[in-house]
Amino acid sequence: MTQFCPDCGEPLLVELPPVRRCIRNGATALSRYLEFLPISEVDKALHLGEGNTPLLPLNRLTKRFHLPPVLVKNEMLNPTASFKDRGTVVSVHMAKSQGLRRIGTVSTGNMAASTAAYGARAGMETFVLVKEDTTKEKLLSAAAPGARVVKVEGDYGELGRQSFALGKKHGIYFMNSVDPFRVEGYKATAFEIFEEFQPGNPGSIVVPVSSGGHLIGLMKAFVELKEQGLCTDLPSFFGVQARGCAPIARAFTEGSLRYREWGIPSTVAQSISNPAPPGGNLALRMIRELGGEVLAVSDEEILSAQRLLAEEEGLFCLPASATTLAGVLDLQGRGRLASGEPVVLVATGSGLKNLRVFPAKHGHVYASSLPDLDRLIASLTGLSISVKNTIE
Ligand SMILES: Cc1ncc(COP(=O)(O)O)c(C=O)c1O
Repeated sequence: MTQFCPDCGEPLLVELPPVRRCIRNGATALSRYLEFLPISEVDKALHLGEGNTPLLPLNRLTKRFHLPPVLVKNEMLNPTASFKDRGTVVSVHMAKSQGLRRIGTVSTGNMAASTAAYGARAGMETFVLVKEDTTKEKLLSAAAPGARVVKVEGDYGELGRQSFALGKKHGIYFMNSVDPFRVEGYKATAFEIFEEFQPGNPGSIVVPVSSGGHLIGLMKAFVELKEQGLCTDLPSFFGVQARGCAPIARAFTEGSLRYREWGIPSTVAQSISNPAPPGGNLALRMIRELGGEVLAVSDEEILSAQRLLAEEEGLFCLPASATTLAGVLDLQGRGRLASGEPVVLVATGSGLKNLRVFPAKHGHVYASSLPDLDRLIASLTGLSISVKNTIE
């Protein structure tokens, strides 16, 4: 199946026939938004519990930084702990309906685990090609469901491009980051946000960006809602990249229509380090049309935001996801956020997938023998006298 335009090389998007559509009643995201998706029916056998994630107000951080109301769409609660499941389930629906037996993906780690899980669920052979520096947690979460996982040394952008030729040769359908069906699946997150705000609207939506597929899916969803007359005002979209791999943000700042490849990425946000994002130009064009921005934040800002989300709000996310809070603080500093209008951050993946970057010195971890435990707890709680055991 063709995933890119043979003339311009840009990703192809699904164009739905121009008929009236509505959001249905239904227990799962797929069943509610079926009329907006390129699948004719939901295959319950593929469902792993994706979607229906909570939207949580960040009360403490909102107050501390004098922000407009900030909420987190907690995509970490998807079955494989990232937003990727939203897209994978739709791509696997398509693969199954076409009778395909082998699927694959090229990933920095989250899409690997997700494709492996849904591949297992569908009884398909799954091939996963990951970056050399993929964390052990991500490697094993793709290997556990039985996928063949290959760590590939070399240029990641080139790997993405070559995967399609390899797939054709070996009969593997590669559902990579801007696979048209995957992008359709990401729309469900936007529809859920839309529903939560009814009859209002979020002022802005902030997402981390690597290949561009996720951001494209969220924007496409709101454009379709508007076309259907279901909403009038669109939120502003802000895409955030890491300063050590920011080809799309650089093109945005330069006012350019096309990005240039980044070279060698260097950032703690490994999940969003695609130096040659296949959806980069399309994401740039769409975000310009909708009036948003793609910005970049430093590793220092990312790690500080990761700690703030964990320590102030109990949300331990990947550095990639923490770019959203770092981005909001930057946007607020530049007066880019409309006061009083809610801002939604999409927490795309769980911090448990990369424990390497969390500096041990920030955690409060102690050791004690059993007899010394009472004394240790007394010193940690500031109690100078030990409490008498009243049971004796
Ligand atoms: C945790 C996380 N957030 C955000 C992204 C960016 O998504 P996209 O590549 O669709 O831009 C990724 C991509 O792998 C990711 O793993």
